[in-house]
Amino acid sequence: MLISVRALLMLLLLQYIGPALSQPYPNYHADFVDIDHRRTEPKWWQTGAFYQIYPRSFKDSNGDGVGDLNGIADRLPYLKELGITATWLSPIFSSPMADFGYDIANFTEIAPIFGTMSDFERLMKTAKQLDMKIILDFVPNHSSDECDWFKRSVAGEAEYKDFYVWHAGRMVNGTRQPPSNWLSVFRGSAWEWHETRKEYYLHQFLKKQPDLNYRNPKVRETMKNVLRFWLAKGVAGFRIDAVPSVFEIAPDAAGQYRDEPRNDWVNDPDDYGYLQHIYTVDQPETLAMVYEWRAVLDEFKDGDERILLAETYSPIDIVMQYYGNATAEGAQLPFNFLLITEISNKSNAVDYAQTIQKWLQHMPQGRTANWVLGNHDQSRVGSRLGADRVDMLNMLITTLPGASVTYQGEELGMTDVWISWKDTVDPSACNTNASIYEHFSRDPERTPFQWSGDADAGFSNASKTWLPIAGDYKQVNVDQERQQPQSHLNIYKDLLQLKRTEKTMQLGNIEVKALSGAVLAVKRFRENDFTYVTLLNIFDGFETVNLNQSFSDLTAQMKVVLVSGNSKRKVDDLIDSSSLQLLPKESLILRSTSTYYTYYVNGEHRKLPVLGIYLVLAQVALYLNYCQVLALNRRW
Ligand code: GLC
Repeated sequence: MLISVRALLMLLLLQYIGPALSQPYPNYHADFVDIDHRRTEPKWWQTGAFYQIYPRSFKDSNGDGVGDLNGIADRLPYLKELGITATWLSPIFSSPMADFGYDIANFTEIAPIFGTMSDFERLMKTAKQLDMKIILDFVPNHSSDECDWFKRSVAGEAEYKDFYVWHAGRMVNGTRQPPSNWLSVFRGSAWEWHETRKEYYLHQFLKKQPDLNYRNPKVRETMKNVLRFWLAKGVAGFRIDAVPSVFEIAPDAAGQYRDEPRNDWVNDPDDYGYLQHIYTVDQPETLAMVYEWRAVLDEFKDGDERILLAETYSPIDIVMQYYGNATAEGAQLPFNFLLITEISNKSNAVDYAQTIQKWLQHMPQGRTANWVLGNHDQSRVGSRLGADRVDMLNMLITTLPGASVTYQGEELGMTDVWISWKDTVDPSACNTNASIYEHFSRDPERTPFQWSGDADAGFSNASKTWLPIAGDYKQVNVDQERQQPQSHLNIYKDLLQLKRTEKTMQLGNIEVKALSGAVLAVKRFRENDFTYVTLLNIFDGFETVNLNQSFSDLTAQMKVVLVSGNSKRKVDDLIDSSSLQLLPKESLILRSTSTYYTYYVNGEHRKLPVLGIYLVLAQVALYLNYCQVLALNRRW
């Protein structure tokens, strides 16, 4: 009897250990990224949910049709309700607003249209009470031409003479020409003749945005002091604007600048794309400058770590260097714009998988990924990638490892608003003409935030807002979406909650796979914890997937944790991992029904389902109990 019970026990043990021994864990595909190095508690920004506020369009508190700081302070509880960690504000500094604040006249003063320094301090206080962080926009490349520094530079004052990039130009056949063929991002020559100084100045953006001369140590120190000024006021860090443009090549021995070569595929000589920008962007000195800015942040050792988010659309090898190198730290989060630049509404699951892998596999060991879907310079997600893909994309950026970055209104599914040529205010478009302006205008993604179905969408009570309110505001607004359980807004909140509470989402490894041309799967897993799978059906067909075929270690059933608005499934439903049908454009987040214990044999991971181990242990306990009873019986 005793022998047969032992045999039974052995059989049971084999039943659990056998499959585990025969199945390596996990599959070492190229699409698996081991982020083991982050297995300790993450820092606040490493799994942060970042939210960009475009202050002109967030909330107007004084009825002038333009958003302001008091409006932001009043609505910070909304960001708290979403689960936001930190919000970065597009520039709030004194400015003639030629580029809506990206042309700064005084870097340490608040623009009156946005409020006062005490409004800013109140905002900081409110944020602190809500345990939310404020990040400012640092615009280092240029100032406004109305900045005092520029005026003094024009006047040739010794201290400011070389604060900007000035040049006498080159003489061609007896006539004076700009110093080089360089182009402005906003069209036409990047050089502007200044009648008073009788020299050209460089402006990589608008004429009203002269480039600061970073080869002048005084400029470098002045701009570092700008950082120190705001850091001392308690900001959590900066988004650095137009990073690649900070340095240009130095003039040659004869004091001349070299021309940039042409791009054959652009025929409009005023278009920025006409040239290859080999001398005006991503110069090695720019990388070193970012590392120095990081060192300035690190001077502030009180409280939580201060961070840099770097805006750069450069090639990936260069972007990665902004993280830092072996000897210097750089930006904690150089923005990952790949989901903007490489994904279109035609992209299939393979394209998505490759784009995600591209960032993860280029990222140096020990760094943190981030996922940006939109900003004030880009067509909105719903318009660019599809209004019926809003939940899907929010699921993607919040379940991938690292930080997620959301532009205001994307949590509601706001879409671009068509603005006529007459009503267009963005200089990037105004510098063109009525037939091409739509390709350049950023107004469509900058319209006022939609708070409610009231007049002006609850944004303002002005008779005219600075940009028109979207036509769909009665359906797409915070009040409305709060009431609909499956709205984009509520799904977004649930996503951030999952990111905040689940260790697997914060620290787990990742495997990304295209299960077919249409279905993308992101698996997040971690020892002794639940495994999550985010499934996105990108297109309009019905898709049936077998998760067990693609992933080696899922439980036979998985639990539905979150669904997109168009799904018919309910949270907590159980699905069969080997056969699961997805509706057109449906996306789901699934969770394993058991956690796993992982161990190593000959250097390979193996897994045991924790539930299985418990069952075996329970059986051993029962058996021992049974033996004891037998022994007791015998004694009696
Ligand atoms: C950045 C900003 C953009 C601005 C430009 C010049 O790209 O995001 O809005 O126009 O820099 O400062």
